[in-house]
Amino acid sequence: MDRRNFLAVGSLASVSSLVVPFGIAQGASRASHETLFRGVDFTTDGLGLKPAEYVELLTKAVDAGAITADNYSRGGLVEQLEQEFSRRLGKPAAMFVPTGTLANHLAVRKLAGTDPRVIVQAESHLYNDSGDAAQVLSGLNLIPLAVGETSFILEQVEEWVARSKSGRVEAKVGVISIESPVRRRDHAMVPFEEMQRISSYAREQGIRLHLDGSRMFNLPFHSGKSLKEYSALFDTVYVSLWKHFNGASGAILAGEGDFIEGLYHARRMFGSALPTAWPLLAPVMQFLPTYEADYARAWATAEQVFALLQTDGRIRVRKLPDGTCRVFLTVPSRDLNAYASRVSAHGVTLPHAREGSTEIPIQVNPTLLRMTPGALARVLLEALD
Ligand SMILES: Cc1ncc(COP(=O)(O)O)c(C=O)c1O
Repeated sequence: MDRRNFLAVGSLASVSSLVVPFGIAQGASRASHETLFRGVDFTTDGLGLKPAEYVELLTKAVDAGAITADNYSRGGLVEQLEQEFSRRLGKPAAMFVPTGTLANHLAVRKLAGTDPRVIVQAESHLYNDSGDAAQVLSGLNLIPLAVGETSFILEQVEEWVARSKSGRVEAKVGVISIESPVRRRDHAMVPFEEMQRISSYAREQGIRLHLDGSRMFNLPFHSGKSLKEYSALFDTVYVSLWKHFNGASGAILAGEGDFIEGLYHARRMFGSALPTAWPLLAPVMQFLPTYEADYARAWATAEQVFALLQTDGRIRVRKLPDGTCRVFLTVPSRDLNAYASRVSAHGVTLPHAREGSTEIPIQVNPTLLRMTPGALARVLLEALD
């Protein structure tokens, strides 16, 4: 057996139980057992499920009697998830929304009420990646602060609140929206203490607060603050269902009972009362209970891989000061695409380096649990030119 084949066999033999969730190995056909839920994928937030893998999970969940159908996105599995997230986030109520884009929009729209100014990070999804939906469809005025930074600080908020109050025509800041981790800043997190300062000030001023916590289940591991400590600082919190929990789409918007009450009318108004939402959500309950622990274990694996790379000395590892899942690898290869293809032949998927950069921006996620640190480091090192 040559060294490459040896590496491939070694990697597959070291597959962890997370690869084949919920006893699928026993029920799956031999062919699917051999090919599904394999390999480390450094490009994704969750498991990056392939269609056949998704179908396996869906089938298993149905067979286990774990799915009750919803009716126009109400009741059944949808309601179960709403209750589960509201409990985990420490908010009295929650509503399913088919996309995070709409969850952010519905939140700031209702929180704003008659105060149309909404302070946002210039680098946030709400400001950059929602096609000005809140401005065009809800008449809000998004004020982007801290260009090129992970977040604004309290003093910048205070300045804008004062400016808004002093205008000839009163146009108050109604909402402050904060995204953390920040996708456009390589998933860097907003410091908890800064969020606390902003939250206390906003509450004194009667300004409402929204958290785009799309990937907030990664925060506790890095900051030591719990999900509930984060959500307590905000009136509403959105969490993605497809990023960490492997749904096909979806979001949860959590908040006070009277805020969530009746909000499904606005969801329907935006054409988002899906007649049948459960197929999008079938895998979520399989990953939600263990996600935080799985992410911590993935980081334990990652740290061991990084230590092995450091000992070898050829691949350099760079972490961000306020980073979460994103880490950068500098690989001494003349052709990074060719390097990625060689790595991929051994079941490891790497992202492309960014235009003009020689660093590969990898994501730490639970797929790392599918290989031992030794096998994973060997794949990365053996593929060097
Ligand atoms: C931070 C953040 N907020 C919101 C969204 C929107 O989520 P969706 O794609 O479910 O609309 C995304 C999507 O990638 C995101 O990264």
